[in-house]
Amino acid sequence: MQIPDIIIAIDGYSSTGKSSFAKIVANEFSFLYLDSGALYRGVTLFAIENGFITEDCKIDIAGLDKALEDLDIHFGPDGTYIGDRCIEKEIRSLTVANKVSPIATVAEVRRFVDRKLREFGEKKRIVMDGRDIGTTVFPEAEIKIFMTADPMVRAERRAAEMRAKGEDVNIEDVLKNLQERDYIDSHREVSPLSKADDAIVLDNSHMTIDEQLVWLKEIISERFGC
Ligand code: DC
Repeated sequence: MQIPDIIIAIDGYSSTGKSSFAKIVANEFSFLYLDSGALYRGVTLFAIENGFITEDCKIDIAGLDKALEDLDIHFGPDGTYIGDRCIEKEIRSLTVANKVSPIATVAEVRRFVDRKLREFGEKKRIVMDGRDIGTTVFPEAEIKIFMTADPMVRAERRAAEMRAKGEDVNIEDVLKNLQERDYIDSHREVSPLSKADDAIVLDNSHMTIDEQLVWLKEIISERFGC
């Protein structure tokens, strides 16, 4: 299926399968996939390693903002990098997951990440997933999807992913982390997670990834006549 040069924005709650879906969509249409959450996770890892966030989540905002000026965070062959160090494994850990939402509430951090994300969008033909892509980063995106799913289904998915990577996880901890993140993400002052007025809701609690792709292809075909 040939589709025009557009931006596809995929937002939604944590562990609704946004990134798996976005990757399949990108592959199907030969688009570039960009994971905006990975940049927030990378900034969080950087903040932890450099003492800008304490164990109880107190953030040295001025210090972090200054340090971000020199932070070379980018995407490379194996995922997310700081300089030439691949940080893909570390940013998926529970240590980072537990601190990423507070870090993502910081306006200075959001400004830094937004600037990086918009640079990628200049070329179009991208699928980007996150929390505020359709509302703030690319309000002009031609296709906006808002993903949701039952919280327990989401916790099971995230736990399975973590177990597959060899992490020892407890489903109750994962569910608690998801619910805390949903709350912080939806209630923060700057760019909270919310459905754009023109986004289409995709509840995939009981859908396979192939069914989700069929659903999207029908929407695209109707909208662009392709
Ligand atoms: O998609 P993810 O779980 O990797 O995202 C990690 C965190 O980053 C999430 O808790 C909220 C934040 N985030 C955000 O605030 N805005 C985005 N566009 C993407 C992620």
